Amino acid sequence: MDAPHYQAVRARLARKPRVWLVTGVAGFIGSNLLEALLKLEQRVVGLDNFATGHRRNLTQVQALVTPEQWQRFHFIEGDIRDLDTCRNACRGVDYVLHQAALGSVPRSIEDPLLTHAANIDGFVNMLVAARDAGVKRFVYAASSSTYGDHPGLPKVEDQIGKPLSPYAVTKYVNELYADVFARCYGLPSIGLRYFNIFGPRQDPEGAYAAVIPKWIASMIKNEPVYINGDGETSRDFCYIENTIQANLLAATTEEAAAINQVYNVAVGERTSLNQLYAAVRDELAPRFPHLREARPVYRDFRPGDVRHSLADISKARTLLHYQPTHTIHDGLRIAMDWYVRDLTGHR
Ligand SMILES: NC(=O)c1ccc[n+]([C@@H]2O[C@H](COP(=O)([O-])OP(=O)(O)OC[C@H]3O[C@@H](n4cnc5c(N)ncnc54)[C@H](O)[C@@H]3O)[C@@H](O)[C@H]2O)c1
Repeated sequence: MDAPHYQAVRARLARKPRVWLVTGVAGFIGSNLLEALLKLEQRVVGLDNFATGHRRNLTQVQALVTPEQWQRFHFIEGDIRDLDTCRNACRGVDYVLHQAALGSVPRSIEDPLLTHAANIDGFVNMLVAARDAGVKRFVYAASSSTYGDHPGLPKVEDQIGKPLSPYAVTKYVNELYADVFARCYGLPSIGLRYFNIFGPRQDPEGAYAAVIPKWIASMIKNEPVYINGDGETSRDFCYIENTIQANLLAATTEEAAAINQVYNVAVGERTSLNQLYAAVRDELAPRFPHLREARPVYRDFRPGDVRHSLADISKARTLLHYQPTHTIHDGLRIAMDWYVRDLTGHR
């Protein structure tokens, strides 16, 4: 499957390099955006305070690009909760891809103040800094958690419910602020409501790890895999390559109707946790025979989690010309190869 519009954007960017700011650059999505941009010969400023990101993610990107491409990257270790740091990072920047935030619903339930400070105070700092620096576009990581308790499936951008966690509140407030900055100051922005994004460099460690890397790591190490609830909870899992595409299209679109909008970024297919478990196990079992008879351990549902999540991606298809190139199975295959190499150092 190809995405012709996206190829045209990549070709245009390669001919005319720009300056990009990627916040959260040492994290999973940020480091993948960095890699894609450097490979397109762009200049990139990266900002991160290593709250949940890792220096090793930057080192891995360095190993995947040429020395010339790496020289076009400038890293600032700093915190978006500090306005001067945000101003410094935004200087001379064309496009902002704002990824820095504290993810995870349970983390936000345990420490709402910390999540609020990074995800709302930090976000408004970035909006002010981007506005004052006169950036061309402010693209930011929104979230499918904004659909909250709305029962409709698939999720359509203008039909949201009440948030189910402090994290979801912060991501919805981001959208409200971005909209107000467009109205009051003319700052052009686009919010990308990521569904469950996965791929290389997503952290498998810690209490707040996302399900795919956590399960892959547990299975490889022959540790128990836990499913919260009955396993029929479902998600629209989206491989990172699709997310990179959405970011580049959002940053560079010139269509007025496409700007100052929010978009679902997903594949538009639903996978239950039971199906995901089977897919990951079956993919790993040939390399790890102990998994052939493996079964998950079911435990209680987790507070704040939505039961089903499935995106309608027609808005992004129509206005951004977004066309996902990777299904969950394509992505799982690539991601698993990466995790096996990363976690075992061989095979
Ligand atoms: N991964 C997903 O499925 C998903 C889904 C919905 C939304 N999102 C959003 O996408 C963005 C990126 O998520 P990710 O999965 O790459 O997570 P991640 O934790 O790997 O990356 C977030 C990065 O932001 C940095 N950061 C956090 N607080 C900061 C601060 N105060 N100052 C500077 N840097 C800070 C972290 O150190 C980390 O490197 C986040 O905004 C997240 O809420 C992700």
